[in-house]
Amino acid sequence: MASDSRRAKLWDLPVRLIHWSFVVLLPLLWWTAENGEMDLHMTLGLVMLGLVVFRVLWGLVGSSTARFASFVRGPITVISYLRGLSKSESETSAGHNPAGGWSVVLLLGLLAVDVGLGLIAQNVDGVTGSLNYLVSYDQAEQATELHELGFNILLAVIVLHIAAILFYTFVKKDRLVPPMITGSKDLPTAVTTPVMAPAWRILPCLLIAAALTWWVSIGAPTSLEQFNAPPPVDASEYM
Ligand code: HEM
Repeated sequence: MASDSRRAKLWDLPVRLIHWSFVVLLPLLWWTAENGEMDLHMTLGLVMLGLVVFRVLWGLVGSSTARFASFVRGPITVISYLRGLSKSESETSAGHNPAGGWSVVLLLGLLAVDVGLGLIAQNVDGVTGSLNYLVSYDQAEQATELHELGFNILLAVIVLHIAAILFYTFVKKDRLVPPMITGSKDLPTAVTTPVMAPAWRILPCLLIAAALTWWVSIGAPTSLEQFNAPPPVDASEYM
């Protein structure tokens, strides 16, 4: 470790657990869809929904490096950061850089949109997402096509994401992967130490994410009558 740096906590446990869960879940979601394991596919899709909702909540109340407010920057900051990329300057702040911050928003946004499309999609065997009854047959068909397209766009963004990580590792000599595993990194002394959120905050975020996911999984009923009724075949039963 250089004398002008010290070891500090960069990523908290929820950020790391959610990240590596994405890495495991996405290939599983692809495999289950390709092999007709639709029950498992939909269960894993709901797990993905829960993780994305949790990550969004954690982006509001979590540790400083997890918060959207700390890494979503304006276009001028992003452009000047990208212009300075070729220079070998040391880090000036901890966490996602201005360009990486937007890739986080893009990745989470694409995951959320694709899960949403999956919830209303249907496949050739008539297997449907839990909110499929809310849309018409044609809309569900369109959603199914967009669900596949969304996955391919997500894959392209993930390839860019991994390319960026490799660029930082081998060109900028900044190893980003170990901190995403261990949580800690050697930070220059000039950089403010990240503030980790207290562990108890995980609980309300977990409860909200789990409750919302469960509500969606049972068809998002909006009245007690709907709650007690068996899941409808199409939305007109609720009208
Ligand atoms: C399914 C594929 C992947 C998805 C959906 C994904 C998504 C994300 C997201 C959303 C973040 C932001 C973390 C947060 O603030 O919550 C992130 C960061 C990160 N990811 Fe991935 N990731 C994927 C694959 C990978 C792989 C395979 C690696 C390792 C080579 C990797 C390495 C990293 C690293 C090092 C960061 C932190 C970047 C930084 O220091 O700013 N990711 N990823």
